[in-house]
Amino acid sequence: MSGPNTNYDPVEVTPLSPDEVARMRDEALAAIASARTLEELKEARIAHFGDKAPLTLANAEIGALPPQARAEAGKRVGAARAEVKRALAERTAELEAERDRQVLLTEAVDVTLPWDRMPPGARHPVTMAADRLTDVFVAMGYEVAEGPEAEAEWYNFDALNFPPDHPAREAQDTLFVAAPGDAGPGGKSSAHSGVILRTHTSPVQIRAMLSRPLPLFVVSPGRCYRADALDATHSPVFHQIEGLAVDEGLTMADLRGAIQSFVDAMFGEGLRTRFRPDFFPFTEPSADVSMECHICRGASARPGGEPCRVCRSQGWIEIAGCGMVNPRVLIACGIDPDRYSGFAFGLGIERTLMIGHGVTDIRDTTEGDVRFSRAFGTEI
Ligand code: PHE
Repeated sequence: MSGPNTNYDPVEVTPLSPDEVARMRDEALAAIASARTLEELKEARIAHFGDKAPLTLANAEIGALPPQARAEAGKRVGAARAEVKRALAERTAELEAERDRQVLLTEAVDVTLPWDRMPPGARHPVTMAADRLTDVFVAMGYEVAEGPEAEAEWYNFDALNFPPDHPAREAQDTLFVAAPGDAGPGGKSSAHSGVILRTHTSPVQIRAMLSRPLPLFVVSPGRCYRADALDATHSPVFHQIEGLAVDEGLTMADLRGAIQSFVDAMFGEGLRTRFRPDFFPFTEPSADVSMECHICRGASARPGGEPCRVCRSQGWIEIAGCGMVNPRVLIACGIDPDRYSGFAFGLGIERTLMIGHGVTDIRDTTEGDVRFSRAFGTEI
């Protein structure tokens, strides 16, 4: 192996000559000065200050010099490297400052821009209408009652005095879930009754009479289903709100009063209501309720009146079905019809919403188009 270099001739160790060191330093300083970005500066650092940079390699050769030559060469190379190092640090600071300036310019936040482009969520108009209708009756002292949407046929029909062959049970109206005697959840045989999707909220009447003490005043909003095709006036899924009162001495006059208060609260005071005979198996007598048209107030139906789109110039709008609870229904629920009487009413929530707001197509209430909902505001 090599011993001390006794034939040292400094001129022959070219990389360590003053000229060469100066050249390497100047080249490094020029590269650093000309770096326009931090990326370019990184390349210059690797080329001129990295492990394989000429000055680094020259520095490594100092050890191979004879002792008497090392100090001078070390000083020269050290000074050159120190200068390069300082230049790198300065240029880094400059370029970083420049980058930060650019970031502030290009990523500036314009605090005057609108910030509320994400509209807040809102409850659906049908939900809001259901709540408003419910509130009218809650304010009169009614309690809210609920029942399942997949309902026993017995509650939906039998207990409500629908004969077994009533056409409403037919497949075109009722959506069947399970046939009578089908295995219920867990493989157990379910009740004798079949299971259907409730076709109205009236089964909640039965559930309320079977489970609550008398006197009874309940209101039950909820979703109902019928095997109808979706068109402008029919939807297979819709909402109803049901009212039921059972007490001693209730008469049709109480029913009229309840309906009138509801119309006053929903459409403003002063609209007359009209009862016409109708038929429902669970009420006797039964009536269909109309209110005076809130738009033309009946004027369109009088001679010479302007036509009215809302009531089709009838002057009246049908809003609900109602009646006195059929004694047979009271008996089915274990209530003595000689002591108690009751009244019930049911109305469509979509229909009431449509009448109140001039909506002509029920599909608007189911399609989820925010342009429809937005017109009702953003009540959360
Ligand atoms: N349930 C009836 C329907 O859906 C409405 C109604 C309710 C009628 C209560 C009378 C009493 O048509």
